[in-house]
Amino acid sequence: MNDPFAIAVPPFQRFRRLRQTPALRRLVQETRLHPAEFILPLFVTHGFNVREEIGAMPGVYHLSVDRLPHAVEEAVSAGVTSVLLFGLPETKDPDASEAFAEDGIVQRAVRRIKGDFPDVVVITDVCLCAYTDHSHCGLLTEAGTIDNDTTLPVLARVALSHAEAGADIVAPSDMMDGRIAAIRATLDARGFAETSIMAYAAKFASAFYGPFREAAHSAPSHGDRRSHQMDPANGREALREIAADIAEGADMVMVKPAMPYLDVLAQARAAFDLPITAYQVSGEYAMLKLAAQGGLLDERRAMLEALTSIKRAGADSIITYAAVDAARWLAEEWGGALRALPTPATIAD
Ligand code: PBG
Repeated sequence: MNDPFAIAVPPFQRFRRLRQTPALRRLVQETRLHPAEFILPLFVTHGFNVREEIGAMPGVYHLSVDRLPHAVEEAVSAGVTSVLLFGLPETKDPDASEAFAEDGIVQRAVRRIKGDFPDVVVITDVCLCAYTDHSHCGLLTEAGTIDNDTTLPVLARVALSHAEAGADIVAPSDMMDGRIAAIRATLDARGFAETSIMAYAAKFASAFYGPFREAAHSAPSHGDRRSHQMDPANGREALREIAADIAEGADMVMVKPAMPYLDVLAQARAAFDLPITAYQVSGEYAMLKLAAQGGLLDERRAMLEALTSIKRAGADSIITYAAVDAARWLAEEWGGALRALPTPATIAD
C-alpha cells in the first residue's frame, strides 16, 4: 500500500451493475409504455377529402369525415385503439347549436368511426368553445360573463347527442361546476347509463393550449378562461376538483396539461384509485416537434421520454398527438429487442 492516493473507500452501492446491457436494463425497467394506453386526438371538419396540416402542430391534420377511416386504420394498425374527437363546426352561434345537432360534425364523425371500427374506443370532447361565436366554454350572461348554471343543460345535451351517435366515452372539458352530475343524470335518464364519462377534472388555465386554439378555432374573442379553468399555482385545489368529479359520477379523471403538472398527477395517483388520464397538450407537443425540427432534440427519444415521465408520474392513459408515432417507435424497439440478442455493439450503446 504505497499508493499515496489510496484511501479507504466507504461502502457504496453499485447501481451500474444492472445497467450494463440492454437486456439487464429492460429487466429492471419500472415503467413501460404501451400503444393501448395512448389516445389519439382527431380534428374533424366539414367538407370532402380534406386533410390539411395544422400550422402550429406539425403532423396533425384537420380531417373531413370521409378521411377519418384512413386515419383510424393507421392508428389501429400501430396498436392505438382509442381516439378523442374535436369538431370544427360549419357555423358558430351564441347557443352553440351545432354542438348538439344530430348531424353535427362530431356526431357524424362518431357514427362513421363506430360504423367502420366498432371496437375502437371513441371519446368525444364536450365543450362549447368551438361552437359559440364568442368562443367561450359556456353561455354568457348579459354582462358577458359565463353563466355556469344555464350552461349545464346545454353540456348535457351535447353529451347526450354524442352518446346517441355511439360515443363510448364523453369527455367534458369546459370546467363548469356541476357538469358531471348534469351529464350523468341526463345520460341515465335517456337510456345511456352505460356511456362513460372521462372528466377533464384538473384542467389548468394554461398557455400550453396555444396551438390547439388554432387547431380548433376556439380562441376566445375577449377575455380568457381563468374564470373556470384552474390557477396553475393550485395543487391542492386540483385534488378537490378531482374528488368532486368522482363524487358526481366520473368514471375516469384527467390532469391537463401533463408535463408541467406531473406533481399533480402523482398526487392524484396516490389519492384516487380510478383510471387517470393525462393530456400531453398541443403546446407540449409543438415544443418537442419544433425543437426536433430545428435539430435541437432527438424527436423519438425526447417524445418517448416525455411520455414515459407522464406514465411514471401515475397516468394510466395518455392523450397525445404523437400517439401513432410513439406506438410505431415502441413496436420497433420491442420488436427489435425480441429479435436481437445483445451484441457487443449494442452493449456499447
Ligand atoms: C376545450 C379544450 C381545449 C383543449 C382541449 N379541450 C382548449 C382550451 O381549454 O382552451 C386543449 C388541448 C390542447 O391544447 O391540446 N374544448
